[in-house]
Amino acid sequence: MAAFSPSISPRETRVLPVHRLNNASPPGSIAEWWASEQKSGSAEAAAVAEAAELLRTGNTPVGFPTETVYGLGADATRSPAVQGIYRAKQRPLDNPLIVHVDSEEMIESLLNPPAANSGTNGTNNTKRKIPDIYRPLIERFWPGPLTILLPNPPNSILAPEVTAKLHTFGVRMPSSPFARLLIHATGRPLAAPSANASTKPSPTTAQHVYHDLQGRIDLILDGGPCGVGVESTVVDGLSSPPAILRPGGVGIEEIRACPGWENVRKAYKDEALQLKEIPRAPGMKYRHYSPKADVVLFEAGSNPASISRRVNADLRNTAVGAKKVGIIRTRTWEYGLGLAPPSSPPPSGEIGSLSSFTLEVEYLHTTHSTAKATKTIYDVHLGQKTEDIARGLFAALRAMDVENVDIIYVEGIPDNEGELAAAVMNRLRKAAEVEIRKGQA
Ligand code: TXA
Ligand code: MG
Repeated sequence: MAAFSPSISPRETRVLPVHRLNNASPPGSIAEWWASEQKSGSAEAAAVAEAAELLRTGNTPVGFPTETVYGLGADATRSPAVQGIYRAKQRPLDNPLIVHVDSEEMIESLLNPPAANSGTNGTNNTKRKIPDIYRPLIERFWPGPLTILLPNPPNSILAPEVTAKLHTFGVRMPSSPFARLLIHATGRPLAAPSANASTKPSPTTAQHVYHDLQGRIDLILDGGPCGVGVESTVVDGLSSPPAILRPGGVGIEEIRACPGWENVRKAYKDEALQLKEIPRAPGMKYRHYSPKADVVLFEAGSNPASISRRVNADLRNTAVGAKKVGIIRTRTWEYGLGLAPPSSPPPSGEIGSLSSFTLEVEYLHTTHSTAKATKTIYDVHLGQKTEDIARGLFAALRAMDVENVDIIYVEGIPDNEGELAAAVMNRLRKAAEVEIRKGQA
């Protein structure tokens, strides 16, 4: 499917800080909060007002923080504005967008657009409601990282680009009060995909957004790092049995515990490309959350001896050609997979931060001679807790990209731990070209 042409006349991308507002717990309703912020005349309120004005009137999307990842927002009711999202991200046109709302009333206005030729609301007084199947989920998880699919009504006010011409639209109410403040200040539902360039890992800081989209958008609101770190769970309650289309911030087991959702199906593919050799040909890749490097994912519980055999073989294999090697650790791996020479500097010890050391390896040059090569090893420890792993994952993949790492080894976590673990493994499998299973040499 064709993406929009990348040709955009370069523009200055400004990053405005909104840390205070993004970390605030609003005193009352979002409306009251916005009214008092506007009265205060603070620089952050002015930044939000400026973003809201751009969203209402412009056709270039705005980057903003949510609790999951940064979004790239546009007025969901205006086609030229929504087209701007696809253009900035170079996103394929057949991938629909999530609509973000600040209230259930906003959803009701989407379900009940004015009838075509009368100024009246709805059809014959039968007001469309959110289907009952979603009630228990909404009560439990909204506002929060859960996206539901709703039928897109005839005469929908949503731009057709939002739904990629499907008969449904995806919608969520973010738990981030800041995101709801921006929606409220704009007074429109905001279509917002993750604010990365298409195929790249989702952004969890404003700097990630800037890295991918500088020169392509005008404004990024910088609220600091996102708390959840992986995107919302997408569920379809319109099919029977209901389905999970994307694992995310809300866990599958939590959903299954809700009435009507006991038999929920997993309707997403969750496999890395299984290949014997590490592919170098980009055409062989089908990846979503992909850094530039090749990613080799080890299933949780892989035998340390087989990991070390695999890594050592790669390091000594000139064909792989990796000069820079990344290691992303979670639960059990030791620093640098134990490869750091005693003379190398100690690791930073801080969760999520990058440490590095160099390593001399000898490899078989010809059948009779050996040669030496210097490798740089970059190491990130994401921590033990699933929440920390989810929060730091995309930033770690991006940090490896900044260092131009050739290959990244990642320590997987068990899928079946509920909560975020399945989401983390789903993103890793999409980023990886190969997953080494337990017991696989
Ligand atoms: O946490 C999130 O959901 C973030 C933040 C910014 O809110 N947004 C996000 O959007 O991850 P995006 O565009 O990167 O992912 C949207 C996902 C895609 O997998 C898309 O296919 C699916 O939601 N989706 C949206 N509308 C859909 C629909 N009508 N039917 C099926 N899938 C839909
Ligand atoms: Mg995305």
